[in-house]
Amino acid sequence: MWGRRRSKDPDSGPANSGLTGDPVIEEPPEPGPKDWRSRWRTLKESVRGTTAALPQVIRLVWDASPGVTAGLFAATVVAGIVPATSAYTSKLLVNAVVQGIVVHREHIADRIRLDLGLWHPTLTTLNAIIFLAVLQLLIFALIAFLSTARNITQQLLQNSVSMRIQLMVMEKAAGLDLAFYEDPASYDLLRRAQTDSINRPVMMISTAFGLVQTTLTFISMIALLVVVSPLLALIALISPIPAFIADTRYGWRGYNIARWGSRLLRRMNYLVTLLTTDSYAKEVKLFGLGQYFINRYRLIGETYYGSQRRQVVRRYAIGFLWGNLSTIATSVTYLYVALQAIAGRLTLGDLTLYTTAAQSVQTSIQGILGGFSGMYEHNLYLSNLFELLGTKTVLPVPARPVPVATPLRGEIRFEHVTFAYPGATENALTDLSFTVSPGETIAIVGRNGAGKTTLFKLICRLYDPVEGRVLIDDVDIRDYDPAALRGQIGGMFQDYVTYQATAAENIGLGNLPTLTDRDAVIKASRQAGSDALIAGLPQGYETALGKWFDAGVNLSGGEWQKVALARAFMRDARILLLDEPTSALDAQAEYELFERLRSLTRGRTAVYISHRFSTVRRADRILFLEHGRLVEQGTHEQLMRLNGRYARLFRLQAAAYTGEDVVPEEVDLDIAPSA
Ligand SMILES: Nc1ncnc2c1ncn2[C@@H]1O[C@H](COP(=O)(O)OP(=O)(O)OP(=O)(O)O)[C@@H](O)[C@H]1O
Ligand SMILES: [Mg+2]
Repeated sequence: MWGRRRSKDPDSGPANSGLTGDPVIEEPPEPGPKDWRSRWRTLKESVRGTTAALPQVIRLVWDASPGVTAGLFAATVVAGIVPATSAYTSKLLVNAVVQGIVVHREHIADRIRLDLGLWHPTLTTLNAIIFLAVLQLLIFALIAFLSTARNITQQLLQNSVSMRIQLMVMEKAAGLDLAFYEDPASYDLLRRAQTDSINRPVMMISTAFGLVQTTLTFISMIALLVVVSPLLALIALISPIPAFIADTRYGWRGYNIARWGSRLLRRMNYLVTLLTTDSYAKEVKLFGLGQYFINRYRLIGETYYGSQRRQVVRRYAIGFLWGNLSTIATSVTYLYVALQAIAGRLTLGDLTLYTTAAQSVQTSIQGILGGFSGMYEHNLYLSNLFELLGTKTVLPVPARPVPVATPLRGEIRFEHVTFAYPGATENALTDLSFTVSPGETIAIVGRNGAGKTTLFKLICRLYDPVEGRVLIDDVDIRDYDPAALRGQIGGMFQDYVTYQATAAENIGLGNLPTLTDRDAVIKASRQAGSDALIAGLPQGYETALGKWFDAGVNLSGGEWQKVALARAFMRDARILLLDEPTSALDAQAEYELFERLRSLTRGRTAVYISHRFSTVRRADRILFLEHGRLVEQGTHEQLMRLNGRYARLFRLQAAAYTGEDVVPEEVDLDIAPSA
């Protein structure tokens, strides 16, 4: 699964948070010297790399807005042909002016025949000049109009496509497995797709359309040029190629550097977050970390901007050098044409046409080649997006799922379940078998890392076991539709969410169908013991919690936990999973909750995880996990009589209250502070 891909990712390697140590991350290697075969391969790859995303992008942009896309395309085509028309009109105009001068000097017949392709009007020189000037004016107006139209359509497309992609990313993310989020490499893909790729499709489209436009300009201009001098056309054709080669090379390298730099940037952003986020402020001040983080930022930033500087300078300096070749070629061309004109082999109008056309051919070749390297670059960024969109959810969903009974009976059975996190070398759970009967209340205990939370994740089918099966009501949960299964489970995770929303919304989100049902919210709130607390807030249930969006209030840690707990009670679910529900509650609140829990969980299967033995002992049965294995189970009395690990941990905690001396097993006595 995800873990396996990690080795290929350039972001792997020794951990480097950037908080200490050398801020430098090794730059990606320069491409070495290449033979012809590998050059050919590279060329093929870059052609594929340039065009691969184009069909998808066109579909994406077209779907976002067919009308605007068509408009943009039409504007592009017209804009492509207009320069040749303009150059030709200039030629006619200059020739008419020259003829006018001759007419005045030599008093010959004032007649000029204009060659307008299909139409050959004969006019006086003055009329011809006026006519051509007006034509030229119209062409300039058209150019201005087209560029405005393009700006408008592009802006409109940008907005709708960005939103579309954002929605696609969100849709995709909503369907991704938890494993995707918990694996750094794939999580990174999500981040990259979402930040770097959003604007790329429109950029790609405008580059592609730009290519169409420049190609049309190029073809029409070349046609004009070839008629006059094929040699000139050839010179104009090949001179910009060196500049292009330099450009593609650095485009590719620029992407690698940008990708490398994004690691530094993310660290820099993290340091900014540490200093600008409310929840970190206390600790940052207590430990006096502010200036330290600023210095680290400066250090990493200098590395980052240093590499950027080198890159930019090299790219443009080398581009400039190669570009000079093209400039020399152009100058030679001009000289040649000028000499031809003096020799009388060309009219002045021809001269104007040549210079315009030659320059235009050159810029359009550069434009075409630059367009390709631009497409190549966009394609690289877009590959993140398409990789993300192409990601398959790993957990297989049955084609014909077993319908989840509503209500469930609520029996949970683990049969020889073994589970390891993707990429992990050790099992989080090993050969776990137990049954929770409907209506039973089970407590799960075990030391940190024993696998308790993992067990909950398996019941919710956030992961599938590697071996064995998890059954609910005698059905392997892989045969249920995961969403339908989860819909029948209420619960609270250890790291519950604190939504930046009103108190009522914070609770209501536990069950979407009754999100705005105030009676249901209040009922759940009473059950969790958060009712009195919320009633005391300035606007009761309408009070905004958290201060992101509105002038809200901040709750204490335990108060937040009560709210999260209320969310768990929103669903009338037969299975209730609570991961350390009282870890932040005061003794009284905890006592009251467990007093209530008896009646609350009547008819429900409740499984809770707790480190507090005072609450654990009330459960019908206790499962004791150690290193992912079930090592003891039974009622509190049975386990105390067994006098095993549970009894030892229980006494250890009790001794802390009574002051008895119990030396626990496995306690590292070296941790005593040195005198
Ligand atoms: N997302 C993850 N990816 C890889 N390994 C994980 C992940 N989450 C937990 N683990 C590992 O799995 C083991 C069990 O973790 P789990 O969270 O289930 O422990 P726990 O019993 O809930 O501990 P605690 O009492 O501290 O909450 C631990 O060794 C942990 O390092
Ligand atoms: Mg846990």
